[in-house]
Amino acid sequence: MESTNNTIIKVAGVKKGFTVGSRILPILYGIDFEIQKGEFALLIGPSGCGKSTLLHIIYGLEEPSEGKIIMDNHDIWSYTKDWRADFRNKNIGFIPQQPFWIKSLSVLENIAIPAVISGKSFHSALPKAAELIELVGMKEWADHRPYDLSGGQQQRIALARALLLDPHIIIADEPTGNLDQKAGEELMNLLSDINKKFALTILMVTHNHEQYKYGSRIISMLDGKMISNELQKN
Ligand SMILES: Nc1ncnc2c1ncn2[C@@H]1O[C@H](COP(=O)(O)OP(=O)(O)O)[C@@H](O)[C@H]1O
Ligand SMILES: [Mg+2]
Repeated sequence: MESTNNTIIKVAGVKKGFTVGSRILPILYGIDFEIQKGEFALLIGPSGCGKSTLLHIIYGLEEPSEGKIIMDNHDIWSYTKDWRADFRNKNIGFIPQQPFWIKSLSVLENIAIPAVISGKSFHSALPKAAELIELVGMKEWADHRPYDLSGGQQQRIALARALLLDPHIIIADEPTGNLDQKAGEELMNLLSDINKKFALTILMVTHNHEQYKYGSRIISMLDGKMISNELQKN
């Protein structure tokens, strides 16, 4: 597929092998796809097929053995580690399957943490954190401790935290993986609203067939290869 001005993420010939002892264990065999601005792309496939590895390569944490990741026209793996860290802070919010929290801080304070990581002042980020906690419908929990919340509530907070530095891309690795049906659906609705409202591009891994309806594109993987890549009408 030709890159267009609207291409925000381009994965080109990405291969990955992990060194295990004296052997190289191939994990990704050459992945190619593009995601356009504003898409809600779902990455699916059985456990162990390489989805998380690919997300980490796109997020700039795990180096590909071969191939390129072009984001916003930047070949991210041609730059330094510091450049990538800065690029991530400015452009990408990440939601893990299992969010990590600082126990001694409140929910609101945890949402403000990315400010500290990016070198801004914690206190200056609190008003923005307050705005975001409202956006995800968790205002009344601001003073609680994150680990006291349910899994679904924690993922709403993780989404608020991912949005703190105004990213234009959200990458989420099975954010609904540990949630029950209802909490999963609520998170998908929230992501879908945010995708539309802020023209935010989302790339997310899911296992759940019922969530496919939320995606504008479904990229399907099997054993380290992409087996289909389809735009959906919705
Ligand atoms: N650091 C690593 N070293 C060796 N093997 C790894 C490493 N990370 C992941 N793997 C292996 O790569 C394969 C794909 O893992 P992963 O990307 O986590 O799959 P998925 O997210 O689709 O479940 C698995 O077989 C996993 O054991
Ligand atoms: Mg995974």
